[in-house]
Amino acid sequence: MARIVITSGPTRQYLDPVRFLTNDSSGRMGAALAQATIDLGHEVTIISGPVSVSYPSAAKVVDVVSTHEMLEAARWAFHDSDGLIGAAAPCDYMPQQIEKHKLTKTGEGLQLSLIETPDIIATLGTSKRDHQWVVGFALETEDIRFRAIVKMSRKCCDMIVSNSAEAMNSDDNSVEVILRDGSILGQLTGPKFLVARGILFHIQKHLIDQNT
Ligand code: C5P
Repeated sequence: MARIVITSGPTRQYLDPVRFLTNDSSGRMGAALAQATIDLGHEVTIISGPVSVSYPSAAKVVDVVSTHEMLEAARWAFHDSDGLIGAAAPCDYMPQQIEKHKLTKTGEGLQLSLIETPDIIATLGTSKRDHQWVVGFALETEDIRFRAIVKMSRKCCDMIVSNSAEAMNSDDNSVEVILRDGSILGQLTGPKFLVARGILFHIQKHLIDQNT
C-alpha cells in the first residue's frame, strides 16, 4: 500500500473580498485519479481547490483556496507520502496587492499588477527524497510532446501526462503518458475514469513497484 497525494481543481487568487482570478478546472480528473488509486488499494489525500465535484469517500480531502495554501497543504501531506500526482490547475498569477475592501468602479478601468505564484510540483519535485516520486500533467496546444518532456524535466517529475485543452471541464480525456527517460508508455482516450485507471496502471508499474 502506498500513500499518495493528489492535487486537484483550480485555485483562486483574490483581488478584493469578492473578485478573483482562477483557472477553468472542474476537479473531475483529480476525482477519477483518486478513485483509480483507491481501487488499487492505496491511501489517498486530495488537496483540492474550490470545486463542486464529489471525491471518493475513502479519500481524505483537504480544502484550500489559493496556490500558496495548496502548496503548504501538499508539502505537509507529501512529507509522509510515497508519491504525488499533480492534477490541479493552480492559478499561476496573483495580484501584487490584495484590497481589503471591494474595489469601487471609477469609470476609468483598472490596471492590475500580477506576480507569479509558486509552482507546486516543481517545488516538491526538486525537494523529493529518493523513494518519492512526482507525476505532473501538461496541457499544451502546440509542440505537445516536446513541451511536455521539457516541463517534466524542468519540474523534476518522474512521469508526465500530456493532455489537450479539450480535457478541461469535460467528461472525456485523451492523454499520452511519458516516463522520465522520455519513453512513451502509451496513449489513453475515453471517459476520465477509464483514462485514470490507465494512468494508475503505469504509475503502479513504473513508480510504485520500482520503489518497493
Ligand atoms: O500550468 P502547467 O501547464 O505548467 O501545469 C503543469 C503541471 O504543473 C500540472 O501537473 C499542474 O498541476 C502543475 N502545476 C503546479 N503548480 C502551479 C502550476 C502548475 O503544481 N503553480
